[in-house]
Amino acid sequence: MPPVANVDDVIAQVDSLPPLPAATQRLLVLTSLPPDRADVGEISKVITHEPALAALALKWVNSPLYGVRVEVRNVHQAVSLMGLRVIRQMVLGFELHSRTSQGLFGYGMSAAVFSEHSLSTATACQLLAERYMPALKDEAFTLGMLHDIGMLLLDPLVKEHRELFAAALRGGMTQEQAERELFGIDHCALGARILQAWNLPEDTAEQIALHHTPVEEGTPPLVVLLKVGDSLTEIPFAERLGHPTTVDEAACRALGISTDGLKGLQAHLEASREGAASLFTG
Ligand SMILES: [Fe+2]
Ligand SMILES: [Fe+2]
Repeated sequence: MPPVANVDDVIAQVDSLPPLPAATQRLLVLTSLPPDRADVGEISKVITHEPALAALALKWVNSPLYGVRVEVRNVHQAVSLMGLRVIRQMVLGFELHSRTSQGLFGYGMSAAVFSEHSLSTATACQLLAERYMPALKDEAFTLGMLHDIGMLLLDPLVKEHRELFAAALRGGMTQEQAERELFGIDHCALGARILQAWNLPEDTAEQIALHHTPVEEGTPPLVVLLKVGDSLTEIPFAERLGHPTTVDEAACRALGISTDGLKGLQAHLEASREGAASLFTG
């Protein structure tokens, strides 16, 4: 199957993506400081100047996830209650949601479905990290949240060449193989380039680049964890579409998670899915 796009043109789109807004960049820096050096006042000030983020912070803190009894009405209090990690998650999630608000219809995903997949994978990664590598909990969440961001740039091409793309999948190619075959690059490599362009951690970019590469000796632990989290998250979607469901067995073995462990995690994920899905929508 001959390529239908010039790979250099595809990659050049990374540079034409709008950079991360200044407030987002500032918040990512402020929330990555150790808690004892955190400046809640400054974080609240930045959020207060961004009406969409301020509204979101109040929505999150008053959502059933927090179980606050009295409605929180000011951003400073919301920031104190949510803590640095959750603020960071909210900011990253909001950024991803705004960039994909038109949906990824080439891939057959509405904005809500894509957000749900990203957030569920992030939650799965965080839950797995709590159990298997607690020190990497925050990185795991970010990785899960951003792992498929490369699809954002490939979506218009998939839409334009929908027939060819579908034929490649019908012929037995995986999504990533079809992307490489037709566009010269897959969403993993492209996602890594987006993270680099936004000056997000290099490790996370490298892990995203590997997220559909089979597990082998030397695969970074967080990639293994992401593969388990990603495949777990796919199960309810696949079931809804009547597709066969599988988890990445090699990744599960490498992580040391049993079938029972997976079931427990899946039940936990299902419980948080409903609340999480509504967190970025009106
Ligand atoms: Fe992916
Ligand atoms: Fe994914």
